[in-house]
Amino acid sequence: MKILSIESSCDETAAAVVEDGRKVLSNVVASQVEEHKIYGGVVPEIASRRHVEAISGVVKSALQDADCTFNEIDAIAVTYAPGLIGALLVGVNFAKGLSFSTGIPLVPVHHLRSHIAANYLTNEELKPPFLSLVVSGGHSHIVNVKSYTEFEVLGRTRDDAAGEAMDKAARTVGLPYPGGVNLDKISINGDENKYKFPTPHISTGKYDFSFSGLKTFAVNLVHNASQKGEEVLPEDLGASFIKTVTDILVKNTIMAAEDNNIKQIVLAGGVSANSRLRKKMSEECERRGFKLYMPELKYCGDNAAMVGAQGYYEFLNGKRADLKLNAVASMPITEEID
Ligand code: KG4
Ligand code: ZN
Repeated sequence: MKILSIESSCDETAAAVVEDGRKVLSNVVASQVEEHKIYGGVVPEIASRRHVEAISGVVKSALQDADCTFNEIDAIAVTYAPGLIGALLVGVNFAKGLSFSTGIPLVPVHHLRSHIAANYLTNEELKPPFLSLVVSGGHSHIVNVKSYTEFEVLGRTRDDAAGEAMDKAARTVGLPYPGGVNLDKISINGDENKYKFPTPHISTGKYDFSFSGLKTFAVNLVHNASQKGEEVLPEDLGASFIKTVTDILVKNTIMAAEDNNIKQIVLAGGVSANSRLRKKMSEECERRGFKLYMPELKYCGDNAAMVGAQGYYEFLNGKRADLKLNAVASMPITEEID
């Protein structure tokens, strides 16, 4: 079956056509990055306006690229939570309009579930159960994926998300938005052992994370160095910061996998594009005989193909929405209302 999927939770307007949850027939992404760059981050009001302007063209291109008409589409999947509310509303309302006018069923999809499902697009043999490290700009979770539509959160960040921490560290060393990807690029040539960051102390769950103290440490380090007239090389600070964050992510994920006797690990979310995270997780999994799956780089960030993948499994599980569907800014992956 063919699903037309729509994503507008942050600053990418995206649409795709995906067959049987696995085969991408088209994948169109209109990014607003250049426009938000001058403000150093996403401006929600601008994001909503640009989604309104882009969405019809993006959906049309996705159908054209897939060589499809509405007659061949079996369901419309749309991201409805979590994300920027004004941005989500554009995709949700557009999808509702399409569903109403064509009679094609509407399937609401959780954004983090989609990030995990990005892995189904390129790893044909991947099936739940598995453990997923979901690291995006707004969330950092260790999730026990029990089936395509059943999730249990084993660990989470107590403060900043991993992507948010990467973005803040990037800003500290003067790199432009989008910070994480720029920090990754420059840090490849840095000395990751140059600066020793403190180990965050967490008194909650065994697999939980905390990153906000690391960001404060980076800010203070740069400030103190400048007062003493010392130079901090962005690549050294970046490499040391990325090492600290990715070591914590890998350690907790491996610990959760071992404790729960899970031997398949799946990376998901924007930060899963990070080169050190991919390398370090690969090494640790190989050492233990765990099978590691990672999304292709083009499916790590926000896109609609991943919404089509998860939408397929939600559809098979009987999930549908009608015209009462609303966007929700904050919603756990288990989909119980906060
Ligand atoms: O999943 P995503 O595209 O959007 C959200 O759902 O939040 O994640 C975006 C986050 C940003 O914080 C961005 O800086 C980070 O992912 N990111 C990276 C890399 N590429 C994107 N962080 C580190 N290294 C990267 N290569
Ligand atoms: Zn995302």
